[in-house]
Formats: sequence, C-alpha cells, structure tokens
Amino acid sequence: MSDLIVYEKTSPPEIPEEWDYDESVKKVKGQIYKIRFMTEETIGEIWIANQILDGRGGDRKSADWKSKVKNLTFDQYCQDIGIAKQTAYNWFESFQWKSPRRLVGKFTGDIENYTPEKVISSVKDVLGDIDLDPASNLIAQDIVKARKYYTEKEDGLNKVWYGRVFLNPPYKYPLIENFINKLIEEYQIKNVISAILLTNNNTDTNWFHKASYVSSAICFTKGRINFYKEDGTITQPTNGQAFFYFGRNREVFTNVFSKQGMVVEIID
Ligand SMILES: C[S@@+](CC[C@H](N)C(=O)[O-])C[C@H]1O[C@@H](n2cnc3c(N)ncnc32)[C@H](O)[C@@H]1O
Repeated sequence: MSDLIVYEKTSPPEIPEEWDYDESVKKVKGQIYKIRFMTEETIGEIWIANQILDGRGGDRKSADWKSKVKNLTFDQYCQDIGIAKQTAYNWFESFQWKSPRRLVGKFTGDIENYTPEKVISSVKDVLGDIDLDPASNLIAQDIVKARKYYTEKEDGLNKVWYGRVFLNPPYKYPLIENFINKLIEEYQIKNVISAILLTNNNTDTNWFHKASYVSSAICFTKGRINFYKEDGTITQPTNGQAFFYFGRNREVFTNVFSKQGMVVEIID
C-alpha cells in the first residue's frame, strides 16, 4: 500500500475491437516501474487486459475473438508482465478506475471483505491446505483456492463441514456468532480436523470468548489486515484482527503467526 498514489480521476481506456495477448504483454513488459514512474498508457493497457481476460471481452465481441482469449487469464497475464495481480488493482485504484471483477450474487456492504494472499499463504503453511471455506464466494476463491467453498446462496451454515477449514465469517450479527458456533460444534464432533478462524479483535463479545475457550492459540495482529473488495479496492479497518487456531499443531501455528502479531497459547 505504500505505492498507492491517487491521481485525478480519469476515464479508463475504451476496449479495442481487436486485441492480442502476446502483443499486449510485449508492449507492457519493459514499462513496469514503481507507480510514480508508470505511464497512464501502460496502466491503461493492463486495464484493457483485465477487462478482456476477467470480463471475457463483454458481449459486443465476436465468437471468434472470445475463443481466442478463452484459455487465458488475467492471473497469467500478470505473471507474464511480472507483477502481482493486487498491484494491478492498486494501480487501477490510483486512477480511480473501477476494477472489473465479476460480480457474483448479492453484495451487502461490509460482509464482502476478502482475505489477502499473504494471509492465505500463512493459513496454508499451518493447515497444509484448505479443504473448506464455508463462508465465501467465487471472487474470494481467486485467492483462497479452497478445495470446496460454500456461498451465501448455498448457506454454509446448513452444510456439513469437514477437514481443514479456513473461516473468515460475515462480520454481521448474528451471522458471525452462528458461524463460530457451527465451527465449534463441527470441531468438537471431529468433522473438522483443524481450523483457522479470522475475526475482528472484538475481545468483549460473547462469540470471541466462546472461540477462545475451544481454540488452542490466538494471534492478535500487529497492525490491521487490509482486506480487498470485489472491485479491487482495499479496506482500511478501524481495528485489528485475531486468528484463532483449532488443532494439534499449536507450535506450527505459533511459529508461522508470530510474524503477524502476538500469539497467545491457550492452556488446556
Ligand atoms: C468476510 S467474507 C470472507 C470471504 C472469504 N472466505 C475470504 O476470506 O476471502 C464472508 C463471506 O461469506 C459469505 N456468506 C454470507 N452468508 C453466508 C452463508 N450463509 N453461507 C456461506 N457464505 C455466506 C459472504 O457472501 C462473504 O462472501
């Protein structure tokens, strides 16, 4: 986020009728610098790639043109030009261009906060992998990449949970408490083998205390996690977060998460 500069609002470039993946990569590749040295033209080219690859070119493109980009992704494009996808979204944000992530389902303000890659990577370092993300949607899966996930429409609260779970519940009462109760229940009957629960550090709440009693360790973040939204913008939370670990590898959790903040181990 140190690179986020907000320029005067401009309009994003029009999507051309013809576009070639390799040509675009070639055009952009030698032009990647820190944001303050990037030209609007280069960021515009990346924007076009994002529109075409994530948005599949919109409805006005020919079938032939669509089939050309069918197997290409914006993830791959970012790799090919040598930047993280989040960097591209930050650049679009600098120009106040709305990033064209596809909208899925109904979005209701604050509950749609998605976990950044760095956090997911630490979660996977502890759990090995994520078998289930029970409170999620398609957009979040760009980063979470759980083996299975449930959406609001499917209602994760009415499904069976299992394996290694990552839970970042909707921050809305009573949903948050219902999700935490469900995690505790599924963990106690051993459907869930291990889990990491990510919440705000609302230490005075009922649900925080319930989760504390059952978990093996808690990490209180030093600083705050900047979640991302469906349009690629980053949230600026007003308080820090807590990670609760449920499982037997407390030592691994402590090692990995002590980089994120203070870890307290819960005495059995
Ligand atoms: C805070 S976001 C976390 C998303 C994702 N797990 C992540 O960490 O990036 C909570 C998600 O839960 C979804 N959600 C809300 N109610 C749900 C329900 N009953 N079942 C499953 N998901 C639900 C929301 O749509 C939202 O995408």
